[in-house]
Amino acid sequence: QTLKIGLIPADGIGREVIPAAKAAIEALGSDIPKPQFIDLLAGWETFTKTGVALPQETVDVLRNECDCALFGSVSSPSKKVTGYSSPIVALRKELDLYANIRPVLSVAPEVGQQPVVDLIVVRENTECLQEVQTTTDTGKEARATRVITERASRRIGQMAFELALARPRKHLTIIHKSNVLSITDGLFRETVRKVPTLPGIDGKYDGVTIMEQLVDSAVYRLFPHHVSENRVFDIMVAPNLYGDILSDAAAALVGSLGLVPSVNAGDNFVMGEPVHGSAPDIVGKGIANPLASIRSAALMLRHLGYTVGADRLDTAVDQVIREGTTLTPDLQGKSSTTDVLEAVLRRI
Ligand code: NAI
Ligand code: MG
Repeated sequence: QTLKIGLIPADGIGREVIPAAKAAIEALGSDIPKPQFIDLLAGWETFTKTGVALPQETVDVLRNECDCALFGSVSSPSKKVTGYSSPIVALRKELDLYANIRPVLSVAPEVGQQPVVDLIVVRENTECLQEVQTTTDTGKEARATRVITERASRRIGQMAFELALARPRKHLTIIHKSNVLSITDGLFRETVRKVPTLPGIDGKYDGVTIMEQLVDSAVYRLFPHHVSENRVFDIMVAPNLYGDILSDAAAALVGSLGLVPSVNAGDNFVMGEPVHGSAPDIVGKGIANPLASIRSAALMLRHLGYTVGADRLDTAVDQVIREGTTLTPDLQGKSSTTDVLEAVLRRI
């Protein structure tokens, strides 16, 4: 039996950190089925060379041959480029990876102690403001149409309730801004609220406590400013754009974007992806933090049910962070990507 893993490093530091995740998976040996990696193209550089950011072959191979995938990061230009659109946005849609699950977890000072930050941002991944953008011929007016549907809100809501159920605190916060965006965010909020009453749920989510928080004050409450304000959030479920912003903000709490992993999950496929981007400011210097990608590999394996392998990756990463002697500059260390990878491999 083999585990076929599509590798899409894409652009920038994606090419430095995805090979590290690959090496970490290979080090697991018989804890997972023998991994077989398939290299696939996507991204800005692919676009500049071929005119397409997401080749059809990449989608086909992922869909027909792979059990799962790891995605690095893309360098999307901030100006409109004719013919280009973000391949990660397209890929999430093509494979119907409707949930972006982003655990933000600090390492406990000692084994067995409570981590200071331990929350999961559950981001809707297929709609919202990223959907439709237009501009007039004069270019003096631009619009983006925000799409929120009951179907997408319901399934991300259900995913969030399932995740809450598996957590000790079983606490779900719905993030929205329906005081202003009462129609779109109102639909999101109402739909998520109604998930426990759906047919077939039969009281399954009764143990989950539900809270609501407007997105702006949610960012404020992420940062503990009062002793009693620690650990307000457990699971945060949010529409696409809010979830994106919240998870980068939450990353600041654990010290670096280079630590925060995610999976893009659908009912039939899972793709690990570090939350960070292509980091043009450090690309090519050999100092990108590989830990977010290794944690994304762990999250992907966990999602597929390979708990032992996932635990071994996470434990090795935690040990390296706790010891603190081999860290990249984003964590105030002096080590390179390779040094950190080797430290992780030794602990695996
Ligand atoms: P970014 O996440 O690439 O970088 C933000 C800051 O965090 C930078 O100072 C960077 O050096 C640092 N950083 C990020 N990951 C790191 C790591 N692994 N190790 C050490 N330091 C790390 O976000 P930015 O600068 O806003 O975007 C850069 C490019 O990335 C843009 O083209 C953007 O479109 C793209 N991007 C792609 C994403 C994806 O592929 N899913 C997600 C976010 C941004
Ligand atoms: Mg982001």
